[in-house]
Amino acid sequence: MLRLFAALLIIVGLLLACFTSWLFDSYDSAWHPKRSVHQSGEAGPPYPGGRPDGVFWFVQVSDIHISRFHDPRRIPDFEKFCRDTIDVIKPDLVLATGDLTDAKTESKMGSLQHEVEWQAYHNVLKRSRVLERTKWIDIRGNHDAFNIISLESVNNYYRKYSANQKVGSFHYIHRTPFGNYSFICADATLTPGPKRPYNFFGIINQTQMDMLATFREESLSSNKSIWFGHYTTSTVISPFPGIRELMSTAVAYLCGHLHTLGGFMPVLHSRHQGGTLELELGDWMDNRRYRILAFDHDLLSFTDVTFEDWPAVLITNPKDAQYLHPGVEPLGRIRSSTHIRCLCVCPLETSSAQTYVTLSSLIQTSRLCLLSACLSCSVLRRMS
Ligand SMILES: *[C@@H]1O[C@H](CO)[C@@H](O)[C@H](O)[C@H]1NC(C)=O
Ligand SMILES: *[C@@H]1O[C@H](CO)[C@@H](O)[C@H](O)[C@H]1NC(C)=O
Ligand SMILES: *[C@@H]1O[C@H](CO)[C@@H](O)[C@H](O)[C@H]1NC(C)=O
Repeated sequence: MLRLFAALLIIVGLLLACFTSWLFDSYDSAWHPKRSVHQSGEAGPPYPGGRPDGVFWFVQVSDIHISRFHDPRRIPDFEKFCRDTIDVIKPDLVLATGDLTDAKTESKMGSLQHEVEWQAYHNVLKRSRVLERTKWIDIRGNHDAFNIISLESVNNYYRKYSANQKVGSFHYIHRTPFGNYSFICADATLTPGPKRPYNFFGIINQTQMDMLATFREESLSSNKSIWFGHYTTSTVISPFPGIRELMSTAVAYLCGHLHTLGGFMPVLHSRHQGGTLELELGDWMDNRRYRILAFDHDLLSFTDVTFEDWPAVLITNPKDAQYLHPGVEPLGRIRSSTHIRCLCVCPLETSSAQTYVTLSSLIQTSRLCLLSACLSCSVLRRMS
């Protein structure tokens, strides 16, 4: 009996190991000499310099899980994020990458779409007037698709209460005076949406693959492209040549879904074979995470931050060497640049001491260009 039990235990353990290794097969962000900046060729102008030009920034938030049963702080915090945090950061756009609502029963075991949760989400967007201040792109996650028989169902509240209301994949082009930037959403949520826990995996069928392929072609005329979706690519099932191959012309794929795996994996950043970065973002639900990203002279930089953890500082030039993408980024511009460029955000009332320390050390070593500045930064700028 005992032997049988032990054998069973070993088999279960092995299966679990297989599953996790397969899930994390691509979670490798180690340093590779091949990706060194010296390998990339010369890149022409414009070069990052002393003027705050050629740059825009945006924000990602994921797995918000508005819930009628759990964590009463979640909704007011989210409202504060939409009102105050977004007001301080002033992003060009915000990507809310799925699981806007929790859609679980009180016991957390079953799943059910609650209209009140969707109304709460909708009211936050309305009261904070965030839609007037930025482009808000919210997409569905698996929780938003639980128990939905068809997209026309009455309980498909996403259709009624979200800002975007677009089901399926789409291509959004962000136009600026210095370039066009493609944002391609790969929607892998299931229709009809099964009950919990049967939609941990997403599916992209052939029809959607073909559509995504046309978006990819369109995006080639943009300066750079970003793909985003709810599911990590390790949890998406797609036909040949696979979703990763399709997004190989993008700098990065932004997603959520795995949260921080119960705290075991606080950072899930990886890189596909083709060089595309896959950047999973920890959840808003328990960890109150969000991400600030910037395209500065077509170089992508980002920082994952926690709500109300000020100041939020993002150095856009030179960008973090771990996340270089020599295949698509003009890395030669870093060498020809003349200034350290950074985005520094904090609300006015926050003590400036920490910002001061962060920035004064930068000023001492080199020339600094502040792209966005809070009050304390402006004082520093005058001093420098
Ligand atoms: C962006 O796209 C528009 C329309 O396709 C085009 O007219 C414009 O020249 C593009 N801008 C840049 C900087 O490439
Ligand atoms: C693929 O998925 C889309 C959206 O989920 C659906 O409308 C379409 O009918 C599916 N196509 C096939 C061939 O299954
Ligand atoms: C974006 O692309 C256009 C057309 O290729 C180019 O002229 C422009 O310099 C690019 N913008 C940046 C910031 O590199």
